[in-house]
Amino acid sequence: MKYFKILGGAKLSGEIKISGAKNASLPIIASTLLGKSDITLTNVPEVVDIYTLLELLEDMGSTFSFKDNMVTINNNIKTTKAKYDIVKKLRASILVLGPLLGRYRKCQVSFPGGCAIGQRPVDLHLSALEKMGANFIINDGYIDATAPNGLKGAKIVFDKITVGGSENLIMASSMAKGTTILSNVAIEPEVVQLCQFIRDAGVDIEGIGSNELKIVGTEGEPLEYKECKIISDRIEAGTYLCAAGITNSTIKLNNINHNLLSMVLAKLEEVGFSFTTDEDSIVIHKAEQLKSVDISTSEFPGFPTDMQAQFMSLLTQCEGTSAIEERLFENRFMHVPELNRMGANISLNGRVAKISGPKKLSPANVMASDLRASSALVLASLVASGASKVDRIYHLDRGYENFEKKLKNLGAKIIRKG
Ligand code: EPZ
Repeated sequence: MKYFKILGGAKLSGEIKISGAKNASLPIIASTLLGKSDITLTNVPEVVDIYTLLELLEDMGSTFSFKDNMVTINNNIKTTKAKYDIVKKLRASILVLGPLLGRYRKCQVSFPGGCAIGQRPVDLHLSALEKMGANFIINDGYIDATAPNGLKGAKIVFDKITVGGSENLIMASSMAKGTTILSNVAIEPEVVQLCQFIRDAGVDIEGIGSNELKIVGTEGEPLEYKECKIISDRIEAGTYLCAAGITNSTIKLNNINHNLLSMVLAKLEEVGFSFTTDEDSIVIHKAEQLKSVDISTSEFPGFPTDMQAQFMSLLTQCEGTSAIEERLFENRFMHVPELNRMGANISLNGRVAKISGPKKLSPANVMASDLRASSALVLASLVASGASKVDRIYHLDRGYENFEKKLKNLGAKIIRKG
């Protein structure tokens, strides 16, 4: 099994380019199911999750090419069955449900099930699609979905903000008959880009960027998409900011707009860092002293749950006691025992972690449990006094493009082995 060997202690310096966002690419790739052929997307990160979704579309009949961060998809669907063998590898496969139902009126999508960070149900996706006229039978682990008369516009208020649920409904509404109003919709930048992509293909969408969308469907007419450049990955950028933070170094990130990271930058400022930003880059300057901060994860523009683990590693080096409340996922603290094995002092009480610092971290063999926990353990290893081994990095490969190459460019001593 592949792992990283990391020799802690090096300061970071220099600059790197931030890749395109995995979580923006996934819904946009799923939305190509609504489109006519030959759809080109650029700035797509070459990471495992993207290949898995492309494999799913290929299994349904599409063809694609993927090279130099450019994906071209030829949509030629022959079956609307999203098989368990592929869906089990990628929860975001559920994003094919809305477009398949919207366009083909029936599909079978394997239930994605829970995952390491929580149960992650899809009840909100299903109940909203039901309001548009869909019927569901759960059969043999599959969601057997039909909309015999096609999906119809409806007024939907999400009980809870859901990124994937919003994306599924935006796609489903785009080819429905009539107008759909989606309220309490997610406003993550990745959701906004999906709306823009669909709007640029001719669908009338009002309210983009707000929590209420009005979408006038095309009544079954497939969409004519224009080429789209995927936005930069704010979570990847945030991860490197925490790498600079934990090593107290000055680095520059290119190809990233600081507006995507306002809350993360605000919290890093509270810790003691300062920034120079322009439209397309962020320089994080080292701090005089690292101070504890409190964080509560929430939907955009709040502090992202996808940055919680990396920030926790950083807080082990801050003076005082910090508290992190994880409000989105019930089991997203699996990095805590591993960080404690490296000498951190973190106590857990339900959804709140208390981190007392600064603690000198010592090297250890640690095991990654999910995508962001993996990068958090690598960050901790950057300041451990010796050689650490971070195992199960297949989690990390799902979502970070050229991770160790970028860290090496910044001066980290990290090698991939196994
Ligand atoms: C997206 O997951 C992201 N994935 C996640 O990124 C991210 O952590 C999450 O949004 C929150 O920001 C992609 O974009 C591919 P949700 P998603 O539906 O859409 C509950 C990463 O590391 N909920 O917004 O699955 C759910 O259990 C990852 O890149 C229901 O109860 O998240 C959670 O508590 C992991 N019922 C909350 O809502 C539903 O039907 C938010 O989940 C749907 C969700």
